[in-house]
Amino acid sequence: MSSERDFGETITGLAKKRGFFWGPSPEIYGGSSGFYDLGPLGKLLKNRLESIIRSSFVRANFWEVECPTVSQAAVWKASGHLDGFVDPVTQCIKCGQIYRADNLIEEQSPGARIAGQSLDELTESIKKLGVVCPSCRSPLGKVEPFNLMMKTRLGLDQDAYLRPETATTTYLLFRRFLTFFRDKLPMSVFQIGKAYRNEISPRQGMLRLREFTQTEGQIFILEEDEKSWPQFDEIKDNVLPLLPYATQQKGDSAPLKMKLSEAIKKNHFRNAGYAWCVNLAYTIFRSMGFAEEKMRLRQHSPAERAHYAKDAWDVEVLTKSFGWVECCGIHDRGNYDLTRHQEFSKEKLSVTVDKQLVVPNVLEIAFGIERPLFCLIDNSFQPESEARDTDWLRFPPEVAPIQVAVFPLMGKDELVGPASEIYDALMDLGLIVQFDVGGSIGKRYRRQDEVGTPFCVTIDYTTIEDGTVTIRERDSMEQVRVHKDELPQVLRKLVRGLMLFSSLK
Ligand code: GLY
Repeated sequence: MSSERDFGETITGLAKKRGFFWGPSPEIYGGSSGFYDLGPLGKLLKNRLESIIRSSFVRANFWEVECPTVSQAAVWKASGHLDGFVDPVTQCIKCGQIYRADNLIEEQSPGARIAGQSLDELTESIKKLGVVCPSCRSPLGKVEPFNLMMKTRLGLDQDAYLRPETATTTYLLFRRFLTFFRDKLPMSVFQIGKAYRNEISPRQGMLRLREFTQTEGQIFILEEDEKSWPQFDEIKDNVLPLLPYATQQKGDSAPLKMKLSEAIKKNHFRNAGYAWCVNLAYTIFRSMGFAEEKMRLRQHSPAERAHYAKDAWDVEVLTKSFGWVECCGIHDRGNYDLTRHQEFSKEKLSVTVDKQLVVPNVLEIAFGIERPLFCLIDNSFQPESEARDTDWLRFPPEVAPIQVAVFPLMGKDELVGPASEIYDALMDLGLIVQFDVGGSIGKRYRRQDEVGTPFCVTIDYTTIEDGTVTIRERDSMEQVRVHKDELPQVLRKLVRGLMLFSSLK
């Protein structure tokens, strides 16, 4: 456990030193937990992840929308968040410090079985297990609900909340979508945008944020289409690492490698549409560069599920810093949301099927980007070794914040000129490129290894003679010479994983 914590601190220290993220923000005022600034490399990495996510959703036939991040209280009453989006808290009767009750019980009584306990049961557990205030060791008060939404005001007197999820704001557009999609269901849309949660004393740095960027895909779908989802046929033989609730109940934590068709037969998924969403979420995480053996899909127990969910599976990523980290939720929300918004807004949010009004169901893929961002840094970390006198980051080339670094051997015009042309040609191709003239080539390679740049290109005096440049691969530290006219296409293929560096030798 302590080595996990040490590793987490190593990653956070490295991220701060190299400009991935800083915080808690604002640092010069002492910082508020749950807020972080992205530095230049963190922002580049986040852009890379966003672009991969966007492209995955678009290829899966989703359309992107963007909604306001603040909505009037009526929206959150209808969505159930005002009443149901709460954490259990307890206050020290002496020093007044407030804690999240379930976390505190688990910290002071590891192994206590409190999942799904009501507020009264948690109060009872605190008493029974002798849980006390960690700061002054005094008894704790009754467990109360604490709403996680951040409240604000529109104008002088209208209560409003910062959205705790993008999903609800997407559902409010249902009637507009019907027009856009010419009344044809299923309709698939997604948002990438900020969401806010007023977590109680968040720890775990980037993993528990009060402000974060969510990516949420929603499919509005009829029950019969969920069962006979035609795209399921293309993925039915995919083998996924599944950890169904029934397996967890038997005390097993190793995922079963199972074909999706078999998982449906065994009733691990209620229907093909939902299984397809689980597969899409898994594919998105694989595209973000997570290795198969560092991922699993875990089903929630009924007690764990959010108030709107009929079924929920998480994508979890194995980290050295925090063990398995929940990174994405795939939710079968049934017709809970549209039914509630229809009732509260008095607007018709149904469609006609066989002359009957039907409120469609919603399937959802939901995740914050900062968690995979942190996990990717964690998973990419490589310690200093005999071969390399610095620790370095082995980002997958497609995801790396800088994909190619271009170095003129020296800052002389006859080298800087051709190097700039190469830089422009690579940028034109859509690669993320850094131009660096400072210091010896060895130092420049080292700096790029430290931030995980997979390829460096050096322009030297041989380039002037025969037009060739060197490409140096980060992982093997080997170099090959390639003609500069071929360079953009070679690098495009290397970065996109369409060519092996070893094939150039
Ligand atoms: N929209 C689901 C979530 O925020 O987890």
